[in-house]
Amino acid sequence: MSKVTYDYMEEYIRNLIPDRKGTLKEIEDFAKNNGVPIVQKETGVFLEFMVNMKKPKRILELGTAIGFSSILMYEASEAEPEITTIERDENMIKLAKMNLEKFNLDEKIKIYQGDCLEVLEKLQEPFDLIFMDAGKGHYNHFLPHCLRLLKDDGIIIADNVLFRGMVACDELVKRRKITIVKRMRTYLDLVTHDEDLITTVIPMGDGIAVTKRR
Ligand SMILES: C[S@@+](CC[C@H](N)C(=O)[O-])C[C@H]1O[C@@H](n2cnc3c(N)ncnc32)[C@H](O)[C@@H]1O
Repeated sequence: MSKVTYDYMEEYIRNLIPDRKGTLKEIEDFAKNNGVPIVQKETGVFLEFMVNMKKPKRILELGTAIGFSSILMYEASEAEPEITTIERDENMIKLAKMNLEKFNLDEKIKIYQGDCLEVLEKLQEPFDLIFMDAGKGHYNHFLPHCLRLLKDDGIIIADNVLFRGMVACDELVKRRKITIVKRMRTYLDLVTHDEDLITTVIPMGDGIAVTKRR
């Protein structure tokens, strides 16, 4: 379990969520069987909820993996959004492209290959919603670019901000994760103490932070 909330709570909430069907279920199963990290069940539903409510026209995602969350956001939006998603792993990109084709989304969802920071530096067009789900140790470095690229009424959703509970509790921190934990704490400090921003941190999945401008 995630060590972000009580196990019984997590299990109960997960059991409330109906199983996915068809091709999305196949992609989810592939991820599970092949150790590909994709959004946790409840985080996936949270994303769908936010996208369905906000109906963003332009979405930026950091961390494509095999395309699961991109497809999820596209399908949930009902506004045919343009999605830009960044991934550095070539093999992931190949699998993601195959998955996008299954949904006829290879035109709508554009994958940029490269390191998030390098790609972010080159992007100019603003986004309505930014989903941060790559490079946990660099969210604090991604933030200035994400704020530059965020529309005035846009939102940033950052996953894994409590990172298996370690961000909130020193006793859980594994030695080799100390840098990630410290940087994630910096990210949360930045988004919660900037007077121009309003941020809510939700102990769901691996921890989610939602940020918008005041
Ligand atoms: C958690 S997975 C993304 C899962 C995906 N959002 C989903 O839920 O379907 C994170 C992905 O980000 C990629 N990644 C990690 N650090 C990165 C970086 N600095 N730049 C680009 N991609 C990165 C990894 O290769 C991995 O595929």
